Amino acid sequence: MQLCRCRNYEEISQRAAELLTAQLTWKKDSTLGLATGGSPVGLYRKLRERFAEGLVDFSEVKTVNLDEYRGLAPENPQSYRYFMEENLFRHVNIHPENTYVPNGLEKDTETACRNYDAVIQRLGGIDLQLLGIGRNGHIGFNEPSDHFSSGTHCVKLSENTIEANQRFFERREEVPTEAYTMGCGAILRARRILLLASGRDKAEAVHAMLYGTITPQLPASILQLHENVLVLADEEALGQ
Ligand code: PGA
Repeated sequence: MQLCRCRNYEEISQRAAELLTAQLTWKKDSTLGLATGGSPVGLYRKLRERFAEGLVDFSEVKTVNLDEYRGLAPENPQSYRYFMEENLFRHVNIHPENTYVPNGLEKDTETACRNYDAVIQRLGGIDLQLLGIGRNGHIGFNEPSDHFSSGTHCVKLSENTIEANQRFFERREEVPTEAYTMGCGAILRARRILLLASGRDKAEAVHAMLYGTITPQLPASILQLHENVLVLADEEALGQ
């Protein structure tokens, strides 16, 4: 894993925007694996600005998001589909039919997961996968567990994750307890991975990801097996 030490969140966002712009210049029809949460908000803002300045073109880009809360409709402001529309999609020239997020309304887990894996396969895999990291070391919603998952699956969110995500909801009881997430296998098959980590509450997970043993108890540790991972982390996330 390659580690790039950044001063702060702003520098992470700036560097990530430069890297994504370069990716889309090099391969206009890239398939991007996208993430939600606080980590990529600054990056998406910069991409919107770059698009407005004519510096980046999404007309041939395809996107697959990592995860979605089970039970939330796309128009629910807490859904990850809604997040993506607000933070990126509706501001740039991406074709809506080229954007994919797991279907949170599909009640049948088998169908939801099989359909999403088929989408990723049909797109020919992921060129660049963007990731945040949970305080418990999760990637996507792959929570600490006794095994690494491969394909898309339904997870019960850990208490730690529900607590971390309740800041996006009015009440804790509103945080969904289940989600569909891409598996660690699909993430690892991406050709290139960019992980963003900011803030002191990530320091323990980041350290374990970079230097700890590879274990499903710390899902991000599996990234040590990938040959092309760039970690953009700020001083706080590096415990400095
Ligand atoms: P955050 O979440 O970007 O909101 O900190 C990251 C994650 O949980 O994967």
